[in-house]
Amino acid sequence: MIIFDEKEKIFKIDTENTSYVMGVIDEKYLVHIYYGKKLSGTHLAYLLDMDKEELSEIHINYGEKSSFLDRLPMEYPTSGMGDFRQSCIEVAQDIGKYGVELYYDSYEIIDGKPELEGLPSTFGDDVQTLCINLKDDILKLEVELRYSVFAGNDAVMRSAVISNCGDKPLYLDKVLSACVELGYGQNEYITLHGSWARERRIDRQRVGFGYHSVESSRGISSHQEHPFMAVVSEGATQETGDVYAMNFVYSGNFVSFIEKSQFGSQRFAMGINPRGFCWKLGAGEKFAAPEVVMVYSDSGLDKMTSTFHDLYREHLIRKSWVYSKRPVLINNWEGTYFDFDEKKIFDIAKEASKHGIEMLVMDDGWFGKRNDDRTSLGDWFVNEEKLKGGLKKLVDNVNSLGMKFGIWFEPEMISPESELYKKHPDWAVHIEGREPGQVRNQLVLDLSRREVIEYVYESVASILRQANIEYVKWDMNRPFTDIGSSELDADRQGEIMHRHTLAVYELQGRLLKEFPYLLLENCSSGGARFDPGMLYFSPQIWCSDDTDAIERLAIQESTALMYPLSVIGAHVSDCPNHTVGRVTPFKTRGIIAMAGTFGYELDVTKIPEEDRDMIASQVETYKKYCPLIQSGDYYRIASYQNNHYFDCYEIVSKDKKEAILVFVQVIAQPNMHSIRVKLKGLENEAKYKINGTEYDADALMNGGFIIKRPWGDFQAELFHIEKIND
Ligand code: DGJ
Repeated sequence: MIIFDEKEKIFKIDTENTSYVMGVIDEKYLVHIYYGKKLSGTHLAYLLDMDKEELSEIHINYGEKSSFLDRLPMEYPTSGMGDFRQSCIEVAQDIGKYGVELYYDSYEIIDGKPELEGLPSTFGDDVQTLCINLKDDILKLEVELRYSVFAGNDAVMRSAVISNCGDKPLYLDKVLSACVELGYGQNEYITLHGSWARERRIDRQRVGFGYHSVESSRGISSHQEHPFMAVVSEGATQETGDVYAMNFVYSGNFVSFIEKSQFGSQRFAMGINPRGFCWKLGAGEKFAAPEVVMVYSDSGLDKMTSTFHDLYREHLIRKSWVYSKRPVLINNWEGTYFDFDEKKIFDIAKEASKHGIEMLVMDDGWFGKRNDDRTSLGDWFVNEEKLKGGLKKLVDNVNSLGMKFGIWFEPEMISPESELYKKHPDWAVHIEGREPGQVRNQLVLDLSRREVIEYVYESVASILRQANIEYVKWDMNRPFTDIGSSELDADRQGEIMHRHTLAVYELQGRLLKEFPYLLLENCSSGGARFDPGMLYFSPQIWCSDDTDAIERLAIQESTALMYPLSVIGAHVSDCPNHTVGRVTPFKTRGIIAMAGTFGYELDVTKIPEEDRDMIASQVETYKKYCPLIQSGDYYRIASYQNNHYFDCYEIVSKDKKEAILVFVQVIAQPNMHSIRVKLKGLENEAKYKINGTEYDADALMNGGFIIKRPWGDFQAELFHIEKIND
């Protein structure tokens, strides 16, 4: 529920368990008052007195305006007027830079949630939105701050829409989407860092004075840093402590920061990275800043996780896929790399179909003259030397096995060695006169050009129109460098990367309109674009090129901090693992891939027979537990990233009638025979059965469940837990 208390001059946004409160000071400034556990009343403006003690004189005494602004907990801080902390907005006019000063103007509370033009965002019924209008009359600039809440979920969705109400262009150098002042407590912040094949490792640090940030300027959300930050009270655990988290519904450059000021207050914000960004906003135009999902939990990270999971399942992922059965797929990438022909693909499909696998995905290498990664991106025509008889014939043959067919594209790219580049060298992102730097022998297509967007769309769509293709893996394998477009005006070059992201959204949106049945899986050299923006279009995202089961424990743990297991692309691959050389049991690889979309990535005709013989029962197990994995509450019980020896997690169905518990012994320890793990999320007074033995739920949750430690490293066990009907 959202209200405006006229007397107190406060806005109060209540979710089931949280309250978010803002006020208006001096009838001018919109300030943040409170965010946290749900409050019953609205007598809350007094909370500002702490700052006002110092300021009550000052704020009517403009002889000390900066001291006033630099202390005020601004809801949407601006730059250049006296608040010297980080701002949310910086604007320049054609005659130079101007400070921005936004005064409160008006508000509206609406039932529903307006769309953010061109951008993915959460959707659904039973939602309320508060729109607060702020104005700078000198710049003729309006900012509409939006706050939406869905019934039954604790997240607050934030965004800002900027309007140029004047008759001259404005240049937006910085537009963040959300900001919150977190007061004075001792906090820590959690961020996710990584690299190719080592995505999203959890990092936790103390919030010291000054500015601490994560960001991407690579044009994608990136392997290196993730559009997520959680500020937590000192020592917060999975079950205890305050957690304030933000996650960005955007797939391009981002920044998130926590800044501890001279007075100890902490400003926490997120938005498009201003580095390299400048958007020309013409007279009468609007700019929509992407959505930030903001979550507060008063009881640790588990509750934060369940709020994100529920929100994304109910309000971000396409309804047609979120809880529906996804085909168990086999992808040929690690099985063959570029070395395949139609026979090899068909043989893999044929063998896979015998073991219950339901879809064959043909990865990179089927088009142009692509026999390695040096050529042909952009030449999206079938290589009939490789696929003799053409694509349709292969797809029909695979379909005749009772299997679906999926295909790989990397639509945003161009190889300098390609027909397309010969014809249109200026279609690559480049700076005139400079040789553009290649990554993986390729350049980025300039999607700020309409003709390039159309070319890309037709290239992909015409292949999909040729045959019964039901799945697309949409890959993106390099960051942006040499950023320039030969088409855009000089004062629009700072728009290129945001325009690119918008174009990717447009392309994927159009594709799903023309091919509504399509299962789209986004991918970016593994998981470099694993973010809520992509999730809006594709109900699953390839999580990492590292398919080693043990490495995946860490990657999947941190990915599951916000994202439901049903979206985490996870495959069983062959051993020794191609990325780290580790040998793990096939059973372990299967169990760990089940905490994701579950599939295979190997040449099934070549793996050891005893492994192949396990596939049918793995597929069956996955299908049995799939509804639970897709819709249940996920709990982290132990993390081998912290304890170095074992990992443990649990998934409990919403009705608490069943659960699965996964225990992975990463490194065996001598003379440690068994271990007690405390289960979570069961119905307190109920009884449950595990492996034929009955237990009281409170005993399992407080005393624990005893697991006999297996013999050897890399051993996994999956336990099914079933409620006994009373
Ligand atoms: C990177 C992806 O992450 C891999 O799964 C594979 O599709 C390759 N690209 C193909 O080039």
